[in-house]
Amino acid sequence: MSARPPIVAPSILSADFSRLAQELAILDPARDWLHCDVMDNHFVPNLTFGPIVVAAARKLTTALMDVHLMMERPWAMIDEFRRSGADLITVHIEASPQTREVLRQIRGTGAKAGLSIKPGTPYAAVAPYLPDLDLLLVMTVEPGFGGQAFMPDMLDKVLAAAAERARRKLEFVIEVDGGINADTARLARAAGADVFVAGNAIFRAAQPAQALASLRAAIAG
Ligand code: DX5
Ligand code: ZN
Repeated sequence: MSARPPIVAPSILSADFSRLAQELAILDPARDWLHCDVMDNHFVPNLTFGPIVVAAARKLTTALMDVHLMMERPWAMIDEFRRSGADLITVHIEASPQTREVLRQIRGTGAKAGLSIKPGTPYAAVAPYLPDLDLLLVMTVEPGFGGQAFMPDMLDKVLAAAAERARRKLEFVIEVDGGINADTARLARAAGADVFVAGNAIFRAAQPAQALASLRAAIAG
């Protein structure tokens, strides 16, 4: 279990974009983040949105804007996403061969830097970069779509990252993304996760505000 306060990051991907202002009004900017899933139909087989939608969301909430770039060549768009209001920008290690440079570029814009790992990529791939990170995003589904089932095997990566963080006295937070609901969030919290992305469990619930409150309660212990 991590000592850091847990954070829920509702994923805009599952929201109704025709009524985004009402959907985002359930967030409490003092404790929740807003997670924005950018997909390019190359890195993942889906296409979502770019900086224009991030900028629109920025006007609708003061919550920390957590931008998850599931795209090839993320470095070409980092400045643009920062200008659109991203507070934290996460790139995938599988799409960022010059990993250290990309992380430095993100921090150079004034944003916090995150690194994400797909289910098929071993934990060892990200281990060398932990001291350079504000956030490690452990994908708990194959990136590309909301509404998939949580992959419990990914908790081993969370456990390994949390252990290494403690051993090396590092500060990054651990985020999990994919198939998060009250049950899976509890498991991830016990393994050491701090930030819980949830799309369908919140925005496809009959009462999204209540679903968000239940998730906060589930991870609070
Ligand atoms: C998946 C995205 C997730 C997605 C999660 O590729 O990175 O952020 O929105 O959605 P749920 O919570 O429905 O699995
Ligand atoms: Zn995501």
